[in-house]
Amino acid sequence: AIERTLSIIKPDAVAKNVIGKITQRFEDAGLKVVAAKLVQLSALEAGQFYAVHKDRPFYKDLVNFMISGPVMIQALEGESAISKNRDLMGATDPKKAEPGTIRADFADSIDANAVHGSDAPETAAAEVAFFFPGLNVYSR
Ligand code: CMP
Repeated sequence: AIERTLSIIKPDAVAKNVIGKITQRFEDAGLKVVAAKLVQLSALEAGQFYAVHKDRPFYKDLVNFMISGPVMIQALEGESAISKNRDLMGATDPKKAEPGTIRADFADSIDANAVHGSDAPETAAAEVAFFFPGLNVYSR
């Protein structure tokens, strides 16, 4: 089915100047950018976005990292967009990511791991809505 998923190119990858290279991988896999913005998140926004992790030991570091510089937030649309994007990203920990995946090629650590992608249909819908009001998503 055609799905939408939320992608965040994290501060480490934005700082490495690879927004284009990462977005090229999405496009080459048949995913379309249907919404996008470059923003520096507030602690409130990052904390709300990652609220599901609020009791995990890495939560505070995660929020601090995500607000450390601008991030490129995109909604991606296409066939099986959620799992396709996760395949493109590779494992959360870049040491475990398959060669040729975004995290294997661009991530430095499990914290500075280049990209975020929604993990399921329910979270994808909530995450896209969190950052993009419906009128700013351009299905095409
Ligand atoms: P992300 O897909 O953005 O979702 C939560 C983030 O927390 C994850 O990527 C990692 O960058 C970060 N993180 C740090 N430590 C861990 C961990 N032990 N397990 C999962 N995520 C972690």
